[in-house]
Amino acid sequence: MISAERILQRCDALARHSELPGGLTRVFLSPENRAANEAVLGWMREAGMAARLDAIGNVVGRYEGERPGLPCLMLGSHLDTVRDAGRYDGMLGVISAIECVDALNAQKKRLPFAIEVVGFGDEEGVRFGTTMLGSRAVAGTLDPSVLETRDSSGTTIAQALRAFGLAPEKLPEVRKEKRDVLAYAELHIEQGPVLEAEGLPVGVVTAINGFSRLRVTLSGVAGHAGTVPMHLRHDALVAAAECIGAVEKNARSSSELVATVGRIEASPGAINVIPGKVVFTVDVRAPRDALRLSCVERVKRDIESIAGKREIQFEIEDLQQLGVAPCADWLMAQLDRAVSAEGIKVRRLPSGAGHDGMALRSLADIAMLFVRCKGGISHNPAESITAEDAGAGARVLFRFMEKFHGLSA
Ligand code: GLV
Ligand code: MN
Ligand code: MN
Repeated sequence: MISAERILQRCDALARHSELPGGLTRVFLSPENRAANEAVLGWMREAGMAARLDAIGNVVGRYEGERPGLPCLMLGSHLDTVRDAGRYDGMLGVISAIECVDALNAQKKRLPFAIEVVGFGDEEGVRFGTTMLGSRAVAGTLDPSVLETRDSSGTTIAQALRAFGLAPEKLPEVRKEKRDVLAYAELHIEQGPVLEAEGLPVGVVTAINGFSRLRVTLSGVAGHAGTVPMHLRHDALVAAAECIGAVEKNARSSSELVATVGRIEASPGAINVIPGKVVFTVDVRAPRDALRLSCVERVKRDIESIAGKREIQFEIEDLQQLGVAPCADWLMAQLDRAVSAEGIKVRRLPSGAGHDGMALRSLADIAMLFVRCKGGISHNPAESITAEDAGAGARVLFRFMEKFHGLSA
């Protein structure tokens, strides 16, 4: 039987594995990540799954179907968090999927396909700046050169994997074959206010908006804050402030666009020194790829012109981009039926946030179920859901899983 209380208790238990006392920050391949993995591996085994860590650090549980080795319906979400995170973003999807398999196992029921539950190791991309390492590896689209990406202390992904006890040279073994995965379905908190406004516990996702991520470096001239007159300065931070304004202006040009400068570092970082160097990130998202790409181009042109006017060097790196990921009609129809069977009105909605399905859709068709969250708040410690909604989400996922048929007909 699905237990909403157990789902929430497990989210609470995972939230204790954090680098911040009294908050939640758990980045990829950290000691906290290891502890969370151990807990999830244990819950998977209790639910009757064979569970292991793969070579990129995903936790993978497999519940065989009517006979061993059948293709799987893949369920899951991610186990890493942003800094000062909420406790449901990602974790709710993994724990709810385990709860569904546990309910199946309690009935000693086997389906005509296997279930694989995956807790992806990195979806947020907080540590290395590049996202969805786990799901890209499963889809076979993670170029091994990405393993040379460094975190802020200079450690590469390959080094971090080794220090975690994993073998980066085994990356190709993480890749799944299309014939082995019938579909990927993810339950996730909505992270927005639509379901709450409409009084609905769950919603069926139609598509995931695409994103582009940039890293911008502005190099001016550091100098004495007391001696250099204003008109002779090449202050990289003032230039960055103008660039941030340009990012906002471009994003405001369409109600469908959003853009964020979420991280900025100024050096040398002293009260009495003109900032000589600034590095900041830009994240642009939209439900249409052409709209997003044209916004990115305008942002780049504006940065070039601001840097030129201020006689400052600039570099813009394209960190990552993923296009809009539509959910498959045949899977949405099956989710709709599961929602209706729970007596809930079917509401379809797009996802503004990114999810592992964006990477997995080159492997298999994808579907997502959103669960209402309080005030639409996410990426924030105030993230909150009710036990009723957690239960409704998991029951819908259970029905979907039990009745799933792998043919699009
Ligand atoms: C993940 O939460 C993202 O949308 O960046
Ligand atoms: Mn997130
Ligand atoms: Mn998430």
